[in-house]
Amino acid sequence: MKNLDLNELFIDELEDMLSCENQIVQALPKIIKSVSSPDLKQALSKHLKETENQVGRLERIFSLLGLRSQEKTCEGMEGILAEGDELIKNKAKSPVLDAAIIGAAQKVEHYEISSYGTLRSYAEHLGFDDEIIDLIQENLDEEGAADKKLTKLAEGTIFTSGVNTEAAEMENTRKSKR
Ligand SMILES: [Fe+2]
Repeated sequence: MKNLDLNELFIDELEDMLSCENQIVQALPKIIKSVSSPDLKQALSKHLKETENQVGRLERIFSLLGLRSQEKTCEGMEGILAEGDELIKNKAKSPVLDAAIIGAAQKVEHYEISSYGTLRSYAEHLGFDDEIIDLIQENLDEEGAADKKLTKLAEGTIFTSGVNTEAAEMENTRKSKR
């Protein structure tokens, strides 16, 4: 039986994340088209640009380690995105669909936050250069900020109601019409 080596585990996770980010770059344009809230549309469009930069940072980490960038298909992300796609497929634009999109996008963010946290910890234990750790941290920070922004859009602020309130109001109107 072969012993797992932390360096191999790091590379494995890095290849998984390159696959994740590329899958998200592919999936986001279609998701953005299904959104009705202008604020949500703007937040997801911003995150698409960030995700393209995140791919670049991952490729930079491979090159700093003297390795060729390589993807290992992330089946976890494939599953999360497939569920999201199922949720929005053939649905009319509405605040409820926006609420569903936020929920699906936050699952994506949490997968990534967890993976980048793990990668950063492995990189620190492996004594990698600060440049590598900083690149991972930048991706992690962007995912954290994107997640917080999505929560704010769902829940609203003290001045405005969020997507979830609008979705619930639609539900109440529907019930009162019965
Ligand atoms: Fe990402």
